Amino acid sequence: MILVKAPAKINLQLSVGAKGDDGYHDLATVFQAVSLYDEIKVEPGESGSGVTLHFSGDNPHIANLPTNNKNLAYKAAQLFAQRKKVPLDLVIEIKKQIPIAGGMAGGSANAAGVLVALDALYETKMSKDDLIGLARQLGSDVPFSLTGGTAVGTGRGDRLTPALARGTFHWVLAYSSQGLSTPAVYEECDRLRQGFAQRAPRVSEDLMHALSSGDPIALGKSLVNDLQPAACSLRPALKLALSAGMDSGAIGALVSGSGPTVAFLAKSEEAAIDLAVTLSSTGAVSQLGRAHSPVGGPKVI
Ligand code: C5P
Repeated sequence: MILVKAPAKINLQLSVGAKGDDGYHDLATVFQAVSLYDEIKVEPGESGSGVTLHFSGDNPHIANLPTNNKNLAYKAAQLFAQRKKVPLDLVIEIKKQIPIAGGMAGGSANAAGVLVALDALYETKMSKDDLIGLARQLGSDVPFSLTGGTAVGTGRGDRLTPALARGTFHWVLAYSSQGLSTPAVYEECDRLRQGFAQRAPRVSEDLMHALSSGDPIALGKSLVNDLQPAACSLRPALKLALSAGMDSGAIGALVSGSGPTVAFLAKSEEAAIDLAVTLSSTGAVSQLGRAHSPVGGPKVI
C-alpha cells in the first residue's frame, strides 16, 4: 500500500491571453502550492478487477464525483498503466480536503498523487521529466500539481519554470458550498472581453520581486487574476467576500484560479488567525480555512 499527500495550489498571478484554435487560452501564471492536502491511498487489486476508486471526507459533493474514467485520478492510473505496462488492477482511495471544483486544482492534485503513488508501488523510478510528460496529457494544472513549490506557467499553464520564493506566506481561504466549472469561467471571461484585443500575457516583475524578497505586503499588492471578473460575474457573492476580506485586514485578496475559492493574504500567521476571526464575523463568507505557502509537491508518506 502506498499513501501520498498531494497539495492544492493558488495562482498568485493568472494572466489570460487570447484563446487558441485548440480552445485553450495562452497563459502567464505563477503557481504556488499551499498546505491543504488530499491523501491518496493506492493498493493493488485482484487480478482482472480494474480500477476501484473511492472518495471520503466531509465535503457533501463527494457523492457527485465520478469514480470511472471521467475522473482525472482514474485517467492518471489508466495512462500510467498503459505507458509502463503494469496491471490496471488497483484500489484507489482519496481523502478529500481540497475543495471540489474550487479553483485550487484538487482534481489535478489527485491525478498527480496517483502518478507518484504508482511510480512508488511499481518501483518504476520514473524521472521527474517523464512524470511531467504524463501529467501534461492529463490537464493543464497537473504538471504543477506534480512539482509543487513556486513556478511560472506559460502556454496552457503546463510549461513550467521554477521561480525563486523566499519565506512563507499565510492565507485565509474562503470556500464556497457550490463549485464553478473551469470551462464556464473561461467562457464568461471571453464573453466579458468580447471586442477587446488581447495582448500576450506576461509574468509580473513586481510579483516576481515580491516573491524573491519574501515581502508579503508587496505580494499582496501584486496578486492578479484575469478570471476574477468572470468568476464574480457568475457568482456575485464573491465580490462581497473580496471586499469583506480587505476590510477585515487582508493585505491582498483574489479569487483562486477559476474560483470560487477566495484567498486572502495576511502579514503573518498570527495576522491570518485574526483575519479569519474578523472575516467570519462579517457574514460575507461561509466556510473558512487557513494555509501557508509554498509547500513541496506530492510526497509518499
Ligand atoms: O487542461 P484542463 O482540462 O484542466 O482545462 C479545463 C478547461 O479549462 C479547458 O477545457 C478550457 O475550457 C479551460 N482552459 C483554457 N485555457 C487554459 C487552460 C484551461 O481555456 N490555458
